[in-house]
Amino acid sequence: MAIAEVTRPQPKVRHTECFIGGKWRAAVSGKTFATVNPATEETIAEVAEGDAADIDLAAKAARAAFEGPWSRMDARDRGRLMYRLADFIEEEIDELAALESLDNGKPVSVARAADLPLVIDCLRYYAGFADKIHGSTIPVRGNYFTYTRKEPVGVVGQIIPWNFPMLMTAWKWGPALAAGCTIVMKPAEQTPLTCLRMAQLAQEAGIPDGVINVVPGYGPTAGAAIVRHTGIDKVAFTGEHRTAQIIMREAAESLKRLTFELGGKSPNVILADADLDAAAAGADFGLFFNQGQCCCAGSRVFVQDSVHDEFVEKLRQRAASRKLGDPLAADTEQGPQVDQAQFDKILSYIDKGNNEGAQCIVGGSRFGNRGYFVQPTIFSNVQDSMSIAQEEIFGPVMSVLKFSDWEELIQRANQTFFGLAAAVWTKDVFKAHDFARRVRAGTIWVNCYDVFDAAAPFGGFKMSGQGRELGEDGLRPYVETKTVTMSLG
Ligand code: NAI
Ligand code: MG
Repeated sequence: MAIAEVTRPQPKVRHTECFIGGKWRAAVSGKTFATVNPATEETIAEVAEGDAADIDLAAKAARAAFEGPWSRMDARDRGRLMYRLADFIEEEIDELAALESLDNGKPVSVARAADLPLVIDCLRYYAGFADKIHGSTIPVRGNYFTYTRKEPVGVVGQIIPWNFPMLMTAWKWGPALAAGCTIVMKPAEQTPLTCLRMAQLAQEAGIPDGVINVVPGYGPTAGAAIVRHTGIDKVAFTGEHRTAQIIMREAAESLKRLTFELGGKSPNVILADADLDAAAAGADFGLFFNQGQCCCAGSRVFVQDSVHDEFVEKLRQRAASRKLGDPLAADTEQGPQVDQAQFDKILSYIDKGNNEGAQCIVGGSRFGNRGYFVQPTIFSNVQDSMSIAQEEIFGPVMSVLKFSDWEELIQRANQTFFGLAAAVWTKDVFKAHDFARRVRAGTIWVNCYDVFDAAAPFGGFKMSGQGRELGEDGLRPYVETKTVTMSLG
C-alpha cells in the first residue's frame, strides 16, 4: 500500500528561530537543522540549532525577567495573562492542530480533539492557581512570629519530548508561570514548531519578554547546556529514563532541583468478569493511541485465561480495522511514527518478538513505502522474560500475556523497574481496590484508560519518574518555602 500524495494545503510555519528575551534570533553559531514531516520524510523547515551559547543568552534573559517585571507583577495579573494565552490558543485551535499534525505525524483529528483541549485546560487550570499560592502562620515556642512564604524556585529549564509537543509545553509552562518562575525551554528536535508558535502567542497575550524563552536544538548540546547552566535553578524533564540518568549526573555539580516524567511498561489487566467489549476498546486505545507513543501506553495486556482467546480475537479485529494514512486527512486514525530512529527501533522489537517465540497475530511490518508508518501489531503468547514484555517499545506493538491466578497477576504486574500507570477491567470492586492499592504505579485506571485531567496528578513510581505533574502536586516543584521568624519581644 502506498500513502497518497499530500495535496491539501500545508499548515503555515511562522517561526523557526530561537525565541530569547522576546526576540526571534538565529542561533549564535548560525547553524540550523531540519524538522521533517514523518508522513512524507520531507523537510518541513530549517530550524535554528541552539546550543550552549543560546542557552546562556536565554538563561540571562530569563533571570532578568525573573528579577524584573515578572517578580513585580501581582499574582492575579499573572494568572490573567495565562488565561489570555489559553484564549489565544483556542482562537487558533485548528491551525495549531494542523501544525502539530504536520510536525509530529499524529492525526489532525486527534490533535484537535485531544491534545489542544488538554493544552487549553491545563493553562486555565494553572492560571487559577496563580493567586492562590501562599504560606501559613506557624505557632512556635517563645515570643516569636513565624510565617512561611511560597516563592518561585527561579529560572527553570524545561526539556520535553516529541510525542505530545504542545501538551508537554503546557504541562511545563502552566505550573512554572503560575508559581512566578521564568522559563528556558528546549522542545524536542523532532517537533519544535508548535512550541515556537506558543511562545509568540504568549508574547501577544502580554507575558513579558524574557519570561518564556525557547531554544530549539539537540539534547546533548542545548539540553545538556540547560542542565549544566549555573543560572538555572531547576530542570523539569520528560523523556527516556536513560536520558534522566545522564541529567541527574550532570545536575549534581550545581545541585539543581529535578523532576522527571519518564517511561513505562504499564500493565492493562482484563479479568474474565469485565465487559469484554469495553475492555477491548480500552486495551486498543490504551496502546494504539498516538501511534503507541505514550509514556503510559498499556503495553502489557494481561488477559485471564478463561476469556483469553475470545478477547485476543476482539483485539485482533480492532487492530486490523485501524485506518492508517495521511495525518492531515480527517478520517485517519493512525499516522506515522515520529522519525526514522523510532521507526527502526519499533521494527527491531517486532523482530525480537518473533525471534523470542511470541506469536504475531496481526501487523508485524511497515505500512506503505513512504513515511514512518508501522502496522498496528499484536503479539500473543508473550512471556514475562521476553524483551517485548520488558522494554519500552514506544510504538504500535501490543504484548498480550495470559494469567490465571490473582496473586500471581499482581506480582507479575509489578515485575518491572517502571511504575507509571496500570489499569484493571473488572466488575469486582474488591479486586479493583486491591489492584489500586498493590500495584506500584503513579496512576491507576479502573474500567478506563488514558483519562487525563489538569487537576489529577500524573507521574511515576520507581524508574518512571520523580515528582508529579498536574494538579496541586504539580506546583510544588516550582515553589520554594521560605520561613520567616520575627522576635516579638
Ligand atoms: P530522549 O529522552 O533522548 O529525548 C527527550 C528530550 O530530551 C528531547 O528534547 C531531547 O533533545 C532531550 N535530550 C536528549 N539527550 C539529552 C541530554 N543528554 N541532556 C539533556 N537533554 C537531552 O528520548 P528520545 O531519544 O526522543 O526517545 C527515545 C526513547 O525514549 C523512546 O523510544 C521512548 O522509549 C522514550 N521516550 C519516552 C517519552 C515519555 O513521554 N516518557 C517521550 C519520548 C521518548
Ligand atoms: Mg535520545
